[in-house]
Amino acid sequence: DDTKAGVKGLVDAGVVKLPKIFIRPVDELAEELNYCQINIEVPVIDLDGIRYEDRRKDIVKEICAASETWGFFQVVNHGIPLTVLDDAMNGLRMFHEQDQELKKEFYTRDQTKKVRYSCNHDLYQSRTANWRDSLAISLLARGQIKPEELPAVCRDTALRYIEHVREFGDTLFELLSEALGLKPDYLHRLECAQACLFVNHYYPACPEPELTLGASSHFDPVFLTVLLQDQIGGLQVAHNDQWVNVRPINGALVINIGELLQILSNGKFRSVNHRVVANRVGPRISIAIFFVGSQAIPEKVYGPIEELLSKENPPRYKEFLVSEFVRNFYKKGLGDKSDIDEFK
Ligand code: SIN
Ligand code: FE2
Repeated sequence: DDTKAGVKGLVDAGVVKLPKIFIRPVDELAEELNYCQINIEVPVIDLDGIRYEDRRKDIVKEICAASETWGFFQVVNHGIPLTVLDDAMNGLRMFHEQDQELKKEFYTRDQTKKVRYSCNHDLYQSRTANWRDSLAISLLARGQIKPEELPAVCRDTALRYIEHVREFGDTLFELLSEALGLKPDYLHRLECAQACLFVNHYYPACPEPELTLGASSHFDPVFLTVLLQDQIGGLQVAHNDQWVNVRPINGALVINIGELLQILSNGKFRSVNHRVVANRVGPRISIAIFFVGSQAIPEKVYGPIEELLSKENPPRYKEFLVSEFVRNFYKKGLGDKSDIDEFK
């Protein structure tokens, strides 16, 4: 069972020609927008001074504009110490680079397991495989996971990072509520930040990067994503029919609006497709924390926020259950088409 060794296992075994499963059909590569505009970039928002009323108003305006036009922004001065970010990255690198046998203990494709190391969770649904391995941790509620359930090499550093991002998530949802013209605690009361999914990706150096992708283009089927990337680069965001590189900035976090928040905002905020190109140099490491709403209460119904609706702004989406949305997502895997279409 070779897949247990992951993409890293292939590279370690000296593979120089990509196995077929990673090779994108010509039509799939051609379908993709293929060039980058170098003189524009995803907005970078400085959160310094967020507790001062005037400064906060400006920050909220910037977040609102970025969420409407890009669906993506980077934040600096977010308050999470650089050492917490660096330690988390180092811990996860050690996880992927440790002895195969230790990693295999966590290998699974069973989505009900809390900790899952795998290569391409959607391998059986998608047309081609992505050039990356992943470690996922489901966090239904704060403090719900016990340290001993996590791989020893990254246990403490990953948990510390998760705690910081959860706290920062509260601030982000406040700012996004304000950006929608709602009370600061509005999204929080909808339990958008209740459950999280932690997904760490490891993209090994790729011998034929032009034939494959690190991550095929997709929309995030969540409320909000907070991403930490290293300095290698490769993440690209679709903007005005072009791929724009998300420039690595040391200490910054990349934030993107997920499809569920697009629905809640009745389309004011946009969820935008993005991808990761494969690279001859590597590894590239990233850590995504997805805010997935209240999966602990599967019967919870979400839909466009009533306060945002009017005669001029009628609901553009139906109401839905998060569980239904997630099931739909796992059925079809990561894809180029937005999941939202089925909820119109
Ligand atoms: C993803 O969006 O699937 C991964 C993003 C990244 O690794 O930068
Ligand atoms: Fe994504």
